[in-house]
Amino acid sequence: MKILLLNSSPRHNGNTAYATEQIKKSIELNTTHSVESVNVTNLKVSGCVACDSCRTNSEICVIKDDTQDILNKIVDADAIVFLAPVYWWGVPSQLKAVIDKFYSVQSKLKAKTKKIGIVTIGASDITNRQYSLISDQFDCINEFLGWEKIFDLSFSAREINDLPKLEGATEQLSNISQYLV
Ligand SMILES: Cc1cc2nc3c(=O)[nH]c(=O)nc-3n(C[C@H](O)[C@H](O)[C@H](O)COP(=O)(O)O)c2cc1C
Repeated sequence: MKILLLNSSPRHNGNTAYATEQIKKSIELNTTHSVESVNVTNLKVSGCVACDSCRTNSEICVIKDDTQDILNKIVDADAIVFLAPVYWWGVPSQLKAVIDKFYSVQSKLKAKTKKIGIVTIGASDITNRQYSLISDQFDCINEFLGWEKIFDLSFSAREINDLPKLEGATEQLSNISQYLV
């Protein structure tokens, strides 16, 4: 199985980076799956301009940036873990820009049932509505594309290094490989 971890935090030593690393280690230690992590904030992916050229251009976005490379990895993956810090009750714009580009490869994305994991990390308490808002959005995407959600975790952590100190978080993250069977 090919597993793609999409980290969407620009803080390269922050909480989402920690979660990404723990999940990667868990998969490498406990499975024979291939795993790659990409930080989408390192990519240049412009917003979709709704030109619809992809519809007549073999599902290729005409904007020449990192869009095609990341979409190729997404199409190719059997499982994708979306890891996002909460920004304004949603996901960061860099991740949303990639998701919007799903439009250009919709039929390729629908062709394979992918396993989907979600990890969201925000400063607010875990009872805040923002976590279920993001979950609902991914549920809609999964339903539309025929993908299967296999886990959905949320953590409350604000400062860099808060997540490693949060009771039970490291254990939960290092047990993720159990879902990827
Ligand atoms: C632009 C911006 C917007 C944010 N919006 C929210 C928010 O809506 N809700 C929340 O709980 N935390 C919010 N935060 C806090 C981050 O989600 C929190 O600090 C998280 O731990 C960042 O993860 P990271 O260390 O991986 O970057 C925001 C932070 C930034 C920089």
